[in-house]
Amino acid sequence: MPDFDALLAQWHAVDQYLEARYVPSDDALNATLSNTIEAGMAEINVAPNQGKMLMLFAMMSGAKRILEIGTLAGYSAIWMARALPDDGQLITLEYDPQYAEVAQKNIALAGLSNKVEIRVGLAVDKLEQMVASDEGPFDFIFIDADKPSNPQYLDYALKLSRPGTVIVGDNVVRNGAVTDASSSDPKVRGVRQFNDLIAANPRLTATAIQTVGSKGYDGFALAIVLGD
Ligand code: SAH
Ligand code: DHB
Ligand code: MG
Repeated sequence: MPDFDALLAQWHAVDQYLEARYVPSDDALNATLSNTIEAGMAEINVAPNQGKMLMLFAMMSGAKRILEIGTLAGYSAIWMARALPDDGQLITLEYDPQYAEVAQKNIALAGLSNKVEIRVGLAVDKLEQMVASDEGPFDFIFIDADKPSNPQYLDYALKLSRPGTVIVGDNVVRNGAVTDASSSDPKVRGVRQFNDLIAANPRLTATAIQTVGSKGYDGFALAIVLGD
């Protein structure tokens, strides 16, 4: 077995090196991270360099309307909202009202309250309402909430998409546990099903990438919705 602690230390050091160059520090994002800890939330936000990657993906797709499932303290939402034009909009879904309150403050600190709307409740309920009231299509969708629900989130994402919509799913590797077909962990099972559904869907073309770094060993899936 490799010395995992030594590997993790190196991944941290390399992320520090990369972030020092590619991801300049920024008061709003720093405050968001310290407010995450202060509020007692798990530090399961995306890493800074992954946050900037999400911003770049959203810029590449020319997104004007972004949907996020799983807000936490608003860290990834702030990154993605920074890709939006002046009249752009990001809707982010969060179950926990206290988390949403912290996120609202962080988004205000980032000067993005006019572009970001947090909807509080079970994501499936909020998504069902969005489909019912025809709020799609979104240009860019980031799926990053409870992993057991990922198959349902993919379904809703597709209903709220158009050809060209980009869908990113976080945490699809789970320390490598994703290869364990007999796993009883509902998160691993949710992510395995998510990967299978994306890969098998003829409306999507997709890939997935393993990542190491300050958040350990995980990965993300990247898909684009095709035309009919
Ligand atoms: N995208 C964030 C991290 C999200 S962590 C970032 O990178 O900064 C996952 C979030 O999903 C948590 O805040 C959790 O409260 C929320 N969540 C979990 N289950 C949910 C559900 N069923 N509906 C809506 N949000 C949920
Ligand atoms: C978990 C969720 C995340 O969004 C993440 O980035 C890491 C872990 C989790 O629920 O375990
Ligand atoms: Mg995540």
